Amino acid sequence: MTVTYTCSSCGRTITTDEVVYRCPDCTGQAGEAAHGFQRGNLSVEYKPARRFVRVKPADPHAFLPIPIKNAAAYPVGNTPLIAPHRLREKTGYHNLFLKLDSLNPSGSLKDRASLLVAEQARAHSVNTVTLASTGNAGASMACAGAAYGLRVVLFVPGAAPRAKLLQSLMYGARVVPIQGTYDDAFGLSIQYTSAFGGINRNTGFNPFTVEGKKTVSIEMYNQLGCRVPDVVYIPVGDGVIISGACKGFADLVKAGLSDKMPVVVAVQAEGSNAIARSWKEKREVILSGTSTIADSLSVSSPACGGMALEWLRRTRGRAVEVSDAEISAAQAELGRDAGAFVEPSSAAAWAGFLKDGGNVDKSASVAVLLTGTGFKDTSAAEKLVSMPQPCPVDLDHAQELLKSYYGSA
Ligand SMILES: Cc1ncc(COP(=O)(O)O)c(C=O)c1O
Repeated sequence: MTVTYTCSSCGRTITTDEVVYRCPDCTGQAGEAAHGFQRGNLSVEYKPARRFVRVKPADPHAFLPIPIKNAAAYPVGNTPLIAPHRLREKTGYHNLFLKLDSLNPSGSLKDRASLLVAEQARAHSVNTVTLASTGNAGASMACAGAAYGLRVVLFVPGAAPRAKLLQSLMYGARVVPIQGTYDDAFGLSIQYTSAFGGINRNTGFNPFTVEGKKTVSIEMYNQLGCRVPDVVYIPVGDGVIISGACKGFADLVKAGLSDKMPVVVAVQAEGSNAIARSWKEKREVILSGTSTIADSLSVSSPACGGMALEWLRRTRGRAVEVSDAEISAAQAELGRDAGAFVEPSSAAAWAGFLKDGGNVDKSASVAVLLTGTGFKDTSAAEKLVSMPQPCPVDLDHAQELLKSYYGSA
């Protein structure tokens, strides 16, 4: 299967049927990543097949570079775009939507990339997929591996939420927690692939990870009656989800299905803000460390930082930073007022909208991408609510409990 890639740094195109990662001309150069983001992210070139052009609604899989053969065993996507009635009333934005990508098979948007990488492994008759993860990508690839019969080797920081590691183990992955950061795990997993072979699925490193995520945008286009939203809020760590979502919108334009790109707003945690700072300071910023409750956004040196900044320019977008307190408040509000139980990294997108929404016209259609479920990180939720102690089995005690915990019986 031949795929054409373009290097996002030097513009070189590579057409190959081999698995490729970064542009050979731009990677490994002296000084690379010492003063800025990694160079040489490859982007898959989308050439609209004649028979798909202008077909409405669009088939998201028809936009991918290789066929998806196992969708029934690993049913990724088709997640709801909900119209959150109460949040609409509260905010005054009556065209507000929440994309519940937390409802993917492993509980996060990462499944969109894992689906494509699992098909890549099958197409190349490769049995092992290795990756580094803050938790969700690993659980997602492990889930795909279980569905496709692949061996998944997963390097994670030891401090990753336990449920994400348990989930990966339950799917049969070989989990390697390390005494280091996500950035350390990233490097180690690439060393592992070089030494032992197989495919590396590191987010942003394997260009299929950006490519797979674009289906989220094609779905939103379908769900909005064949229109793209005016503004989209996306939580950002490595910058891969945002790059994939923007690529999806750009490919809709290429296919002649849309005549505009949405304005895309990157939302980062204040304690992990490499891309937001780079955007504001107009220079590439690498952090010496990170600190945020949004563990999935915790990245010092974003794997797709350059690409994410380029998409912000192309969509006339912007970057917003939110504090941990704002993320927690947003997480509680999404649960209480929209029935969406998401993890802090996901809630960051809603916090971003609450902070930045003043810049958006009230009549605009606004989509907030909710990327991961809250069920995998209950310790974050425990900080937002208090669990009543069980009471004796009689109505008086039940009333007492209701009054003391909730203010009234
Ligand atoms: C739930 C969730 N949201 C957002 C992100 C950020 O995505 P990216 O690192 O591609 O910017 C991640 C990444 O792990 C995630 O798991």
